[in-house]
Amino acid sequence: MNPRKILVTGGAGYIGSHTVRQLLREGHEVTVVDNLSKGHRHNVPEACLFEMDLADTESLARLMRKRRCEAVIHFAAFIAVGESMRLPSKYFVNNVSGSLSLLSAMVETGVRHIVFSSTAAVYGDPASSPIRENFPIQALNPYGESKVMVERILEWYDRIHNLTSVCLRYFNASGADPEGGLGEQHDPETHLIPLIFRAIQTGQPLTVFGDDYPTPDGTCVRDYIHVNDLAQAHILALEYLIQGGASERFNVGTGIGHTVLETIRTVEAVAGKKVPYVVGPRRDGDAPALVASSDKLRQKLGWSPKYADLRTIVEHAWKFASKEL
Ligand SMILES: NC(=O)c1ccc[n+]([C@@H]2O[C@H](COP(=O)([O-])OP(=O)(O)OC[C@H]3O[C@@H](n4cnc5c(N)ncnc54)[C@H](O)[C@@H]3O)[C@@H](O)[C@H]2O)c1
Repeated sequence: MNPRKILVTGGAGYIGSHTVRQLLREGHEVTVVDNLSKGHRHNVPEACLFEMDLADTESLARLMRKRRCEAVIHFAAFIAVGESMRLPSKYFVNNVSGSLSLLSAMVETGVRHIVFSSTAAVYGDPASSPIRENFPIQALNPYGESKVMVERILEWYDRIHNLTSVCLRYFNASGADPEGGLGEQHDPETHLIPLIFRAIQTGQPLTVFGDDYPTPDGTCVRDYIHVNDLAQAHILALEYLIQGGASERFNVGTGIGHTVLETIRTVEAVAGKKVPYVVGPRRDGDAPALVASSDKLRQKLGWSPKYADLRTIVEHAWKFASKEL
């Protein structure tokens, strides 16, 4: 792939920083826009980072012109599902209005390609798994709805402004770059693997939400996708768009589901420590099983996960977390 000039929003966050590192490794010129509301300055090389809010259309446009950006990878968003049920406007303003501001800057400066971070949450509680891209869209919370809205806005921008997009619907992003220095550091943390680590490190039991689901051991099934494999999907999607590919939506997952208890056992095996946990009631809005079919991504973009095995994902994540905490 030729070196490209790429704008990455939210590049100081978890998935963004891994993607930035991979882009830099492959020789691309990267401009990161992040307001550091959730991300970490130390996640990206200083020379790449521009502290800026998505809402600042003028500054975004100026930066894109100055850095001659050819395409955008758009990670910046708020991501906590539970908080979105309490504070919906926070999610619609940041995730939807923020994206509109970015799109205005793109139209103004003639940048015509965007890879957008969407989510499995757009499918809500699907009738079956594995989930394919043509399954019904029915978000169950404002976070998921904000992603559905941006996906739809992107369809209109394609029709009206010839702005092509790839929406990547991630399943459970997890793991860390095996080379070290980057990993998952959300605040508050809502994702299972880092929460299991925290239970080991603090001795405070993890709550498992429900053990009476129609799954092999009664706990929820999720598809864990290594963050470096996600990063690779973005780079392939970017090149696809730059080469003239039409707008598309792809799931990104391994196609393998793991229950919560299986994930706990895997962490125990990797860390060599028992995980304290208690079983609580089911949590509203949790689907019993969310497993991706990524056949479309594999076939159309030639993507395949390098780290599909849960134990490897946990090993990489633990290597980071056991140094950080
Ligand atoms: N983590 C997952 O499992 C997962 C799953 C599906 C989808 N996603 C999506 O992937 C993207 C990245 O997720 P993440 O886990 O890396 O989250 P993250 O919170 O680590 O990263 C998001 C980044 O965006 C920045 N940001 C937020 N609002 C901004 C604004 N208005 N202007 C500038 N910067 C802003 C934050 O400071 C942060 O650095 C999000 O869009 C999220 O919805 C994540």
